[in-house]
Amino acid sequence: MSEVAERWGSRRAFIMAMTGAAVGLGNIWRFPYMTGENGGSAFLMLYVIFVLLLGLPVMMAEILVGRAGRRTPMQALSHLALENGHSRHWRLIGLMGAATVFFILSFYSVVSGWSFEYMFDALGGNFTGMSPAEIGGSFNTFLADPFKVIFNHTLFMLLTMSVVAAGIGSGLEKLNNLLMPLLYLLLFVLVGYGATTSGFTTALAWLFTPNPAAIDITVVLNAMGHAFFTLAIGACALMAYGAYMPDRQSLPTAVIAVACLDILVALLSGIAIFSIVFSQGMDPASGPGLMFVTLPIALADLPGGNIWLGGFFLLLAMATWTSSINLAEPMVAMLQSAGLKRGVAALLIGVGVWLMGLPSALSFSSLADWTPLEGKTFFDLVTSIPTDIFLPLGGVLIAIFATWIMDRQRAFDALGASTTLCRGWLWVTRWISIPLVIIVLISSLWHQG
Ligand code: PHE
Repeated sequence: MSEVAERWGSRRAFIMAMTGAAVGLGNIWRFPYMTGENGGSAFLMLYVIFVLLLGLPVMMAEILVGRAGRRTPMQALSHLALENGHSRHWRLIGLMGAATVFFILSFYSVVSGWSFEYMFDALGGNFTGMSPAEIGGSFNTFLADPFKVIFNHTLFMLLTMSVVAAGIGSGLEKLNNLLMPLLYLLLFVLVGYGATTSGFTTALAWLFTPNPAAIDITVVLNAMGHAFFTLAIGACALMAYGAYMPDRQSLPTAVIAVACLDILVALLSGIAIFSIVFSQGMDPASGPGLMFVTLPIALADLPGGNIWLGGFFLLLAMATWTSSINLAEPMVAMLQSAGLKRGVAALLIGVGVWLMGLPSALSFSSLADWTPLEGKTFFDLVTSIPTDIFLPLGGVLIAIFATWIMDRQRAFDALGASTTLCRGWLWVTRWISIPLVIIVLISSLWHQG
């Protein structure tokens, strides 16, 4: 249970690592289709509110626990609890987090595999000359091919777990830091393209004109889950990163920077995708295929479009690669602290997650008719329950831990901000964030029941 000695080299390195974990499929793939399924501006507005009221305070709580404990998540939790006279069972939050990321990574890898397929297809010029209807159809044909989907899922898991096994996540991050600005640039280009389409103003109106009438408990629950997912919080994944945060740095400023960038990437992606949706007369609520259908429609016929599109999916795969390493890390750290070697731990987790991904991969082919709950496929369930229920539950427990269980001065020191800011954080977390998550979770369970 000794403290970790390493620290991120600079403040920038820390912020970039957080951004690598946060920016991924959540922003570019999940945000647009969830917005599409949940009434546009109603979802967007709630998502931003949740990021501000829950996301920021809980993210600070999660990282500060890691920073104060300077150990792997479960060890940090039990160390800090014991130190202040509480039960070491608080470390079970870490176990729940590891179980949550296990399920999340299983579908994350499948969807990242879709990006691989699209990268190869785009670079091979497969979309050139296809009509929008054909592009839509080709996505369904691809999903219905279990071999291709599983092949790409396997490739992605191999890439992720070999980086984790070799412990070279930070090397990949450096590469990623160089490449991510290109992804952001491409998103701006896509928004620029969107602005030239007939659907642009409709998209902006649909995203930004308040529409409180569209809000119901499902929209609220989805928006809350998405806020946790996109910021990578609630599963102790960022807690693991917090352990390496250098002393004497303000945590709130770093967290605010990451959250702003995260929202910006989601908005750019949403504006670009919905401009295409509305200019093509597509249904915004067409589900997880939204990004994969709209972007080829927009780009395939532009000059050099295949390269742009291939480049986009390549950069997206890079972004999801760093996020998935962050997803795998808490599980590997847990097995390592149970005495396994890093390589063995990575292998076990990799095989487990790969197997768990299979029913998701097959949810559009052989298992399309298997709907274990309320007409939902396995893919529908695994993309919603861990995110909408378990991330917020983990987040609220972490917040309770940081504000009620940990020694207060210890928490403030790890937050590294002025006393006023620390007190403000404590108050908001205790009296706004924690009750809000509990109320939303209970009312949605109530509604389902
Ligand atoms: N935040 C990542 C994304 O938006 C996903 C993620 C969730 C990563 C939870 C780590 C932990 O794609």
